[in-house]
Amino acid sequence: MHTLVIVVHPGLEEGSRVNRRLVKQLRESEQVTIHELYANYPDGKIDVEREQELLLGHKRVIFQFPLWWYSAPPLLKHWFDEVLTFGWAYGPGGDRLHGQEWMVAVTAGSPAESYGPEGYNRYSLEEMTRPYEATANLVGANWLPLFGVCNAMQVSEEELGLAACQYMEQALSITARGR
Ligand SMILES: Cc1cc2nc3c(=O)[nH]c(=O)nc-3n(C[C@H](O)[C@H](O)[C@H](O)COP(=O)(O)O)c2cc1C
Repeated sequence: MHTLVIVVHPGLEEGSRVNRRLVKQLRESEQVTIHELYANYPDGKIDVEREQELLLGHKRVIFQFPLWWYSAPPLLKHWFDEVLTFGWAYGPGGDRLHGQEWMVAVTAGSPAESYGPEGYNRYSLEEMTRPYEATANLVGANWLPLFGVCNAMQVSEEELGLAACQYMEQALSITARGR
């Protein structure tokens, strides 16, 4: 099984620490294709055919991004708008992604305890990422548990290394429905 990781961070090589570390870990596996959206499309012009081919070449797709205003950096929204076309991803005959496995890997600046009904962010990361889950449902992909790293600015190198290993494990895990 091959995993496609669509990384959406405009400063992966410069400002990023957490996402860069997670990507570095996954690059160690031959099972994983890393696809950096901002690096591939600095002008925001998405090559739809290429993206659709990439999707079809993988069984599992992970959308990895830093949480920005409780959402993803904007190129991911544009990617969904462009790539998941009517009659291809949904609608009549739009069954090309049926049976894929989708998940999100999110990094957040706020601490883990803030993401819940008692915390100052009020909602869990699972709730924040519901639109992706709903999209997976629409295109017939199976939704996998979220991977998250919170407290991004404070997390120690050791904790980050551990999180990266857990991410790798989760990204490559075989699910009951997986091949
Ligand atoms: C424009 C912007 C918006 C952000 N919004 C949130 C947010 O809504 N919730 C949160 O927990 N952190 C937020 N953050 C913090 C980022 O999630 C955090 O810096 C990032 O996950 C760290 O990953 P990196 O080291 O790969 O950049 C925001 C950061 C920026 C720059």
